[in-house]
Amino acid sequence: MNIIGSRIIELDETFSTNDFASSLIRTSKQADGTIVLAEYQTNGKGQGNNIWSSVKGENLLFSIIIFPEFLTPDKQFFLSVAVCLSLVDTINEYTKGVCEIKWPNDILLNNKKVSGILIQNTLAKNAIKNSIIGIGLNVNQKDFPKKLFQASSLYVETKLDFDKRLVFNSLVRNLNINYNYLKNLDYTYLKNKFLLHLYKLNIPDYFTFKNGKRIEGITRGIDESGKLIIEINDVQKSFSHGEVTIDF
Ligand code: BTN
Repeated sequence: MNIIGSRIIELDETFSTNDFASSLIRTSKQADGTIVLAEYQTNGKGQGNNIWSSVKGENLLFSIIIFPEFLTPDKQFFLSVAVCLSLVDTINEYTKGVCEIKWPNDILLNNKKVSGILIQNTLAKNAIKNSIIGIGLNVNQKDFPKKLFQASSLYVETKLDFDKRLVFNSLVRNLNINYNYLKNLDYTYLKNKFLLHLYKLNIPDYFTFKNGKRIEGITRGIDESGKLIIEINDVQKSFSHGEVTIDF
């Protein structure tokens, strides 16, 4: 059953589609798979305390409301895996560039970030009560502020203008496919596909740790809960998001 996109709420402008979705959940019962899609956000939220800015009308900005009660909190990273893979599948449908996942959930095209994901889960006992999956995909934006040197869009990487609606439809289709793998608890399939697209897998690189230290290591994969396995001086250890970032 395909539930993602069972209802689509289209807005010209909102604060943040994640915040809009969260107020919908708070005020009334929502259909599983409801999408809030906006042309512009006045206060788009990124990971941590970052903001997500996007030129009006040029990109895809949306949030999905789901109730993944089948998923235990220790497996919540796999939601992010399913979403990353859907973005990779759609970007590969539309471009010939190299599309990779920079752990935990940045989507790179030709080593530039074209998409970000912000997932906000509400946990109950040993289940996820609801989840708001926010997706920003830079589609037709032509220019980016100089300080965002790593940001890009499908347009910048291909010099082609895209029909945003077609890209959105493809993304919803792929989200349903990958979400169904998750519903079937097919973690092995999802993890193996994630590793196929993981940025700098088995390649030495620098990692910045939360104490500010920059250390050379090698990404060796992800563990069962989605932590990044890094090998440093021949010893492998798992790190959670917040403990470490991979340098660009
Ligand atoms: C990141 O920092 O990489 C995550 C960015 C997530 C941005 C999207 S845009 C749609 C949704 N609404 C928000 O306020 N944020 C997410």
